Amino acid sequence: MTENLQNRLYDTEEIQEKDNAFIHPWDMMDTVGDNKRTVIAEGDGIYIYDSDNNKLMDGPGGMWCVNIGHRRQEMADAIAEQVMQLSYASPWSITNGPASIFADEIAKRAPTDMNHVFFTTGGSTAVDSAVRMAHLYFQFQAKKSKTQIISRAYGYHGSTFLGAAITGKPREEECMTVAEGLVHHIPCPNPALKPEAMSMADFLDEKIADLENKILELGADNVACFVAEPIMASGGVIVPPEGYHKRTWEICKKYDVLYISDEVVTAFGRLGHYFASEDVFDIVPDFITTAKGLTSGYVPCGAVVVHDRIIKAFKEGDNNAMYSNGYTYSGHPVACAAGLKNMEIIDNEGLLAHVREVAPYFQSRLRELLEMPLVTEVRGMGLMASVECRVEGEDDMGTLYKVASLVDQYCQELGLIVRPIYSSCVMSPPLTITKDQIDDLVGMLRQGIERAQDDLIKEGVLNA
Ligand SMILES: Cc1ncc(COP(=O)(O)O)c(C=O)c1O
Repeated sequence: MTENLQNRLYDTEEIQEKDNAFIHPWDMMDTVGDNKRTVIAEGDGIYIYDSDNNKLMDGPGGMWCVNIGHRRQEMADAIAEQVMQLSYASPWSITNGPASIFADEIAKRAPTDMNHVFFTTGGSTAVDSAVRMAHLYFQFQAKKSKTQIISRAYGYHGSTFLGAAITGKPREEECMTVAEGLVHHIPCPNPALKPEAMSMADFLDEKIADLENKILELGADNVACFVAEPIMASGGVIVPPEGYHKRTWEICKKYDVLYISDEVVTAFGRLGHYFASEDVFDIVPDFITTAKGLTSGYVPCGAVVVHDRIIKAFKEGDNNAMYSNGYTYSGHPVACAAGLKNMEIIDNEGLLAHVREVAPYFQSRLRELLEMPLVTEVRGMGLMASVECRVEGEDDMGTLYKVASLVDQYCQELGLIVRPIYSSCVMSPPLTITKDQIDDLVGMLRQGIERAQDDLIKEGVLNA
């Protein structure tokens, strides 16, 4: 008889040993089976605890997802109750209460006239699903050549074959084959890339022209959609110049190119609103993709929110259009019950208003770190930020990663998880974080960077 497979019966070393069977996301394949990773055993509020009971502040909020914080009893109860009531129902010809109600509640919180929701298993499948619906839309309208996709360098849109192709982070293409010939990347609108002599207004014009020129180069008749994150998260928390989204959205409308706003990170409170597209950036896209904070990471779930104009076009046409895309777990009752409880918590605890209140403090406290020699830039908005740690003038990837991993290691020793992406420490804590906890976060980050600085000065890599 097999029994007691629960992880709490194993000690740290046993788990690390068993972890050799687990191929982790983005693993270095030559190290599979050789790693000794920190084992995270518990979570509580904005903290997680490793299996040696070290308390760690969850700086990245898991992976930008634990919005309501860890260990919420009411969430545990909602999930357990749903499992006991109905653990699964096919989303094909039948439906279930949690999925229907969740779709309706998402629509109520979505931008104007975005009243339809397609459920997926996460962010990558949401991006795939939005693109596939955009393709169907144009096929249905007999604009069959409109298939090409435009996205941006440094955007991250997932790890499915299509999501990886839409992603514009350099490592993807270097390491693995991606879907060829369908996706076209335009330059990243990172204000830090602006030449010194150029004004921000001219830089913005240039970035808008990048999109328009790409559409014209491909031919508007060939372009289906533009995929963009409001703030590029995994690309390093890149906030484009003010007005960028509104103007790219207008360009898309001008050329009948559908706009897919990838809000896998920015939706569900990270910027102080359920969705950032309309409330923060004043755009109403054709599709919004969301995941992560949708269930605060308690249970996997993703969604595509679809504008009424898309649905209306299908209804008004002469032909039948089957959306031959869907997942066994689309509208999973347990995930949707978790999503509903997540919304209740966000609403009842006033978390959106809380984020709007503490975010300026979070951003300004982090910007104090700019006085440190290793900190070259601090970017961010809402409760997402990136502290760029690099040796000025040193572009060697080895040094970049070394700096990041030193900061990472020292911060963890001090009690803070950071998630270095390239050379930047990314912060997206649970939305429940208080101002005192923000002080602790910044204090630990400062000390961790100081320790890394000392090492680099000793090694002669950084000038004292
Ligand atoms: C903007 C964005 N889109 C899509 C994804 C992919 O989501 P998932 O990992 O849930 O498939 C991510 C993940 O980080 C993301 O940040």
